[in-house]
Amino acid sequence: MTAQRQRPPEVLLQVSDLHVAYGKAEVVHGLSMQVRAGEFVVVLGRNGAGKSTVMHAISGLVPKRSGTVTFAGQDLSAASPRETVLAGIVQVLEGHRVFQTLSVEDNLLIGTYARAPRGDRSKLDRVYALFPELAERRQQMASRLSGGQQQILAVAQGVIGDPKLLILDEPSGGLAPIVIDRILDVASQLCASGLAILLVEQLVEKALRHAHYGYLVETGRIAAEDFSGALGEGDLLQRVFLGGHAHHGEEATA
Ligand SMILES: Nc1ncnc2c1ncn2[C@@H]1O[C@H](COP(=O)(O)OP(=O)(O)OP(=O)(O)O)[C@@H](O)[C@H]1O
Ligand SMILES: [Mg+2]
Repeated sequence: MTAQRQRPPEVLLQVSDLHVAYGKAEVVHGLSMQVRAGEFVVVLGRNGAGKSTVMHAISGLVPKRSGTVTFAGQDLSAASPRETVLAGIVQVLEGHRVFQTLSVEDNLLIGTYARAPRGDRSKLDRVYALFPELAERRQQMASRLSGGQQQILAVAQGVIGDPKLLILDEPSGGLAPIVIDRILDVASQLCASGLAILLVEQLVEKALRHAHYGYLVETGRIAAEDFSGALGEGDLLQRVFLGGHAHHGEEATA
């Protein structure tokens, strides 16, 4: 994907001067970032940099020490997870867990609880069209899906809630490159249809290929940000990730 010259004008998500602490230990130190309407934004950074913490703070899953989050003009700085979902932010958690003892379809129906009227099959049909591998297995118990299929089900569970912003926290976790490509392709497709994407990923090359814009997080701060093409140039990312994660160097094995 070629880099755009300008970010879209409309700011969808604005995180400003965010501080987050676990107990007394502050792990996010005044971080600011944006997702603009229609954008696919990636957040890169080493293990422990604070990426998931920032996503959880956006979703209301961890309290903010200070700072603000606004979304589509709404102040979500003190919002609960339910309020952020209702505002249109859906986060697929790291690890992509699904309900093992429920069928594929029941897992999907759970994903609609907050935002869809009961008995509305149109959302199911839309998601099955997007993920034919799930349509084929709709009555199968989730525990009998492969790891990759479960990961795809978790993404589908996020999509069916019809968010305005979909947050994907390391969809690659432990998966074969072909499954990651599938998830990132679907994310790009969703983005092209108007959904904004905020992706946390350590597979730098793959992520930058799909994203429009990227942020690099180092120890709870934004160390760099740029259009994805520019962010991948030079040796900055290599320096940051050098020896940092086994996933790096993915292209050799993909
Ligand atoms: N529930 C928690 N309680 C205490 N400390 C935590 C908790 N969750 C995360 N941390 C700490 O906060 C820091 C940031 O963690 P976080 O999970 O946000 O990093 P990350 O960038 O998502 O890492 P990874 O790439 O490994 O998922 C780390 O030092 C971590 O040990
Ligand atoms: Mg994380």
